Amino acid sequence: VKEVIAVGLVGFGTVGSGVVRILHEHREKIRRETGCDVIVKKIVVRDMEKERAYPLHGAELTTCVEDVLEDESINVIVEVMGGIQEAKDYILRAFDAKKHVVTANKDLLAMHGEELLKAAAANGSDLYYEASVAGGIPILRGLVDGLASDRIQKVMGIVNGTTNYMLTKMTEEGMSYEDVLQEAQRLGFAESDPSADVDGLDAARKMVILSTLGFSMQVSFDDVDVQGIRSVTQKDLQLASQLGYVMKLIGTAEEKDGAVAVSVAPTLVPKSHPLAGVRNEYNAVYVYGEAVGQTMFYGPGAGQLPTATAVVSDVVTVVKHMRLGTTGKAMSFASRSKVLQEDSDIYSKYFLRVHMKDETGAFLALTKSFVQENISFDKILQLPLDDAKAEVVIVTHSTSKKQIQQVCESLDSQYMEMVSLYRVEGE
Ligand code: NAP
Ligand code: HSE
Repeated sequence: VKEVIAVGLVGFGTVGSGVVRILHEHREKIRRETGCDVIVKKIVVRDMEKERAYPLHGAELTTCVEDVLEDESINVIVEVMGGIQEAKDYILRAFDAKKHVVTANKDLLAMHGEELLKAAAANGSDLYYEASVAGGIPILRGLVDGLASDRIQKVMGIVNGTTNYMLTKMTEEGMSYEDVLQEAQRLGFAESDPSADVDGLDAARKMVILSTLGFSMQVSFDDVDVQGIRSVTQKDLQLASQLGYVMKLIGTAEEKDGAVAVSVAPTLVPKSHPLAGVRNEYNAVYVYGEAVGQTMFYGPGAGQLPTATAVVSDVVTVVKHMRLGTTGKAMSFASRSKVLQEDSDIYSKYFLRVHMKDETGAFLALTKSFVQENISFDKILQLPLDDAKAEVVIVTHSTSKKQIQQVCESLDSQYMEMVSLYRVEGE
């Protein structure tokens, strides 16, 4: 292997400029780790006229991706431009040219991860994507290497910084949904189209990657049951707090009897649960392994230097593989056939808010609906709403998704209206 490893960077925005900075500022450390000088030779951008906030440190700027893909001296392509179709095309062309690829692109990996990993292996190339989930937290390595000997039973992740920031501010400062979304956009955590954050899509894509690696099954985006935070109200947060819970947007992936269930939804966790203390834009992934028990990986889930650290660490891995002659072996392959759990097998506790007529017999009708579905109450709170109505807040014992769906349908009577329904995890 050559003493100098040349990187072709595709994208010089938030993450790309962080990559140049870390490769430059940590050059000595990287040389000690790899035995090579790793330098950025060329950088592909869209707009040559744009003023750049960070120096190029000797790299050549171009708008022509062929300048990088056809440069035989470049061994590693770092794709940090985002988007799906064009990025996929560039990465496949990089493999054709026998180059290795590092990317932070969760959207692409969640959609086409399997195809890209196969193309990499077929060409003897490496493909690494640590930064695609939870930015600076080394969670993919943690799952694949650190817990390689264990059987993962459950993964619960706060993997979207924007919504965690929003829910934290709404809970702790009483801020409105609209105001806090604007603040998250101003601070730069939000995606350019914030619906990817608030509708849970960004978290769902990350859960596709986590569950595929955690369970060695090729989970796809359509397998994820996704609900965002648009409908969460201040009243939900206050009542949840009264009962000892904090609301988080949580991605849950669970395996039971060889079948998996993956979801993203606003979820209540007890205030004492490790995930409850993950505030603002921070991310955390809680992993339960059969032998290891509970583990939690915590840190910055986005931002220039945390994300670029994960990208450059992947580059270091690739260079080490080049030196050892072990490239082209995927970090992990989805070697098991995918089996999904039925709704009748997916169990959790639930928090419900019901508005009902404040008159004799209404409560009996409410409890009858739950008895019919064989669901028992763990906690219950009734508060007056106005002269004619009462608010009832219920936390159930563990019950199946199917049972809770049926009870919600049966509640829709002349007496009652279901206002909110959230999963409760971690008790
Ligand atoms: P960004 O700031 O918008 O930067 C994108 C860069 O790509 C820009 O330099 C842009 O060029 C270039 N680019 C875009 N389309 C291009 C094209 N068709 N051809 C050539 N260059 C193109 O994006 P970012 O925040 O750095 O994110 C990059 C990737 O990292 C995305 O996949 C994102 O999901 C992922 N990621 C980001 C974070 C984060 O905290 N930002 C965290 C985890 C993962 P110009 O500069 O000329 O416009
Ligand atoms: N919009 C994403 C977030 C960026 O808020 O977590 C990091 O993937």
